[in-house]
Amino acid sequence: MTTASPIVALRMASKTYGRGNARVEALKSATVSIQPGEFAAIVGASGSGKSTMLNLLGCLDVPCSGSCLLAGVETASLAVDQRSRLRRDTIGFVFQGYQLLERMDAWRNVELPLIYRGVPPPERGRRVERALDAVGLIDRARHRPGAMSGGQQQRIAIARAIVSEPPLLIADEPTGAVDAATGDDIIDVFHTLNRTQNTTVVLVTHDERIAHRCGRMIRLVDGRIVSDTPTDARRDAG
Ligand SMILES: Nc1ncnc2c1ncn2[C@@H]1O[C@H](COP(=O)(O)OP(=O)(O)OP(=O)(O)O)[C@@H](O)[C@H]1O
Ligand SMILES: [Mg+2]
Repeated sequence: MTTASPIVALRMASKTYGRGNARVEALKSATVSIQPGEFAAIVGASGSGKSTMLNLLGCLDVPCSGSCLLAGVETASLAVDQRSRLRRDTIGFVFQGYQLLERMDAWRNVELPLIYRGVPPPERGRRVERALDAVGLIDRARHRPGAMSGGQQQRIAIARAIVSEPPLLIADEPTGAVDAATGDDIIDVFHTLNRTQNTTVVLVTHDERIAHRCGRMIRLVDGRIVSDTPTDARRDAG
């Protein structure tokens, strides 16, 4: 794959939920290409199709028509287990509600994806330490989620998402449950990963101010992409 190939792309992708009177066209003929190293935000009103689009990009769902290419592979043509393997090898996920396991400390939460992959203990330790260090929370390694602030829990969730060093990070409203200053800290973590590891980041946000800090803003209205433009953040970065 050359650097000109998108890491993920939608071509005329549509998603419809339900049928009859309950039919909702959540995404209408969306075409978008995300290049390796990009930092993009999807914005739009509630119900405009942001999560639907992110779920297609993240291979959590497949389009009803059109296509989604992830790492050059047409996701709809894959069997369910092939699709989950592709997802596991390519993408780290971060959600608004953190989804950490309460009974385990931060270290263990971050370590779990590596245990599932059969990574041996010494290597596991090195990777968990690197991930916790990347989010600035090595000193909270033995804290359980309940003993951490929302912003810290989200940073632990980011550490868990990056511990397998995926080329693509997908985040649905990662700053949705925290205050503005904490939200800025979380975006700083994504920025640093994007700059230093060249991790591609695609996130969904309601918050225009957050979106302006990402390099590219894709706006949805009523299931359609109405604009897709670089932001000042990218122009400033040159
Ligand atoms: N599983 C589903 N079944 C039926 N309709 C759905 C389903 N998921 C989403 N929808 C509908 O599709 C449309 C787009 O939903 P989506 O969740 O993508 O919006 P969103 O932009 O992420 O909204 P929010 O900002 O509130 O999270 C909405 O009208 C929603 O009601
Ligand atoms: Mg949503």
